[in-house]
Amino acid sequence: MVGIGPKHPQSRKGSMHELPQNLLGPIHDFEKAFTVDRSKLKEIVNHFVKELEKGLSVEGGNIPMNVTWVLDFPDGHERGTYLALDMGGTNLRVCEITLTEEKGAFDITQSKYKMPEELRTGTAEELWEYIADCLQQFIEAHHEEANLAKLPLGFTFSYPATQEYIDHGILQRWTKGFDIDGVEGQDVVPPLEEILKKRGLPIKVAALINDTTGTLIASSYTDSAMKIGCIFGTGVNAAYMENAGSIPKIAHMNLPADMPVAINCEYGAFDNEHVVLPLTKYDDIIDRDSPRPGQQAFEKMTAGLYLGEIFRLALLDLIDNRAGLIFNGQDVSKLRKPYLLDASFLANIEEDPYENLTETLDLFERTLNIRPTQPELELIRRLAELIGTRAARLSACGVAAICTKKNIDSCHVGADGSVFTKYPHFKERGAQALREILDWAPTEKDKVSIMAAEDGSGVGAALIAALTLKRVKAGNLYGVRNMDDMKTLL
Ligand code: BGC
Repeated sequence: MVGIGPKHPQSRKGSMHELPQNLLGPIHDFEKAFTVDRSKLKEIVNHFVKELEKGLSVEGGNIPMNVTWVLDFPDGHERGTYLALDMGGTNLRVCEITLTEEKGAFDITQSKYKMPEELRTGTAEELWEYIADCLQQFIEAHHEEANLAKLPLGFTFSYPATQEYIDHGILQRWTKGFDIDGVEGQDVVPPLEEILKKRGLPIKVAALINDTTGTLIASSYTDSAMKIGCIFGTGVNAAYMENAGSIPKIAHMNLPADMPVAINCEYGAFDNEHVVLPLTKYDDIIDRDSPRPGQQAFEKMTAGLYLGEIFRLALLDLIDNRAGLIFNGQDVSKLRKPYLLDASFLANIEEDPYENLTETLDLFERTLNIRPTQPELELIRRLAELIGTRAARLSACGVAAICTKKNIDSCHVGADGSVFTKYPHFKERGAQALREILDWAPTEKDKVSIMAAEDGSGVGAALIAALTLKRVKAGNLYGVRNMDDMKTLL
């Protein structure tokens, strides 16, 4: 028996854990595979910065760096009532937001609907019907008298979209396990507006937005130090403000060089070429078996959708390739179901407060019908820690890359998403990685702080709709498709 102690500040505290020799080998292998040390983090960030630049260039690269036509931060004087529709990875949310007289304040009414699992791989028609059902229900409950044609809708569509105009967006490709035929390559606004019209709801999309852009704008509404909006959730991504003059791919539009333009990075696609990310064999399997192999390499290592699956594949590897090593003689058939375990399963393991990991034992019995021994529980805990830590440390690379690219020495980063808000130690682990990457002295206060964001896909969507209408009124028509369309909303 050999003892191992905690390796990271966020590892489990307490006594040394006794482990039998035969489990030490696999644990060391996992440690080797999943640990991203300081020099690797720096190497990743260096490559990341180049890839961000490449995405802005005419040739383009892996990272789409989508121009969003969000051209300003809010000044706190935005006003009016807006609808917001948020089609995230897991839920659908409809909100009505009134930006009120008091600077930076708002009222919100909202309803949340669970996106049925089957919709992810269903038909386009089913998707639009479902969205229309939810919106209709919301309107019927809250808007009997309202003049809908005058109610601008901010549509948060959190997938990579090419936007020539702010009220338009061609889906580049589905992410987050979605695989609905006939939507990729299409503008997603017309089918939504059409189905709403058919139901007697003449609602106009004033702005199609990404959740990261919404997060950036909503956070900056209450904190002017916010320079980046991030999502660490089912998927991962960030948005920031670029100067038009630093975006070669839109140089032909001759925009004022210092005009701010929000860029939706879509950096989940970072390193699709597999140049620098420390992929494990489990990451390879996830990619191979996903609906879009070769896409979203960075996302597949860091996002909530995949953390439980990485863990499941690692345990199966031991079961299948080291016969009798773990769960000997037990029925492991449940563990063979792809995507059975979500990130909350790992979060629960990491949160188990008991030294003998009784909650983890219960969780395994309940979910998988497996009763791990004490040493197996130790291995399980260490594996969860390694996967969660790798995700947090890699996540910090995206933020560090944007700061480096933009020469931002200090700022606030608004973050949202289930992994950021719920996964234990994610924030501390990410902050620790930022310190290592950006070389702050140990005594220095963190210069870049990732903090909980305001509601990006609700308030952010409303603010972006408000900002769009404000600038259209003032005669700034960049990225506006049809002035007549917008007029009905002014
Ligand atoms: C999508 C992004 C989104 C992110 C977080 C990714 O899969 O491509 O558009 O911002 O998930 O929701």
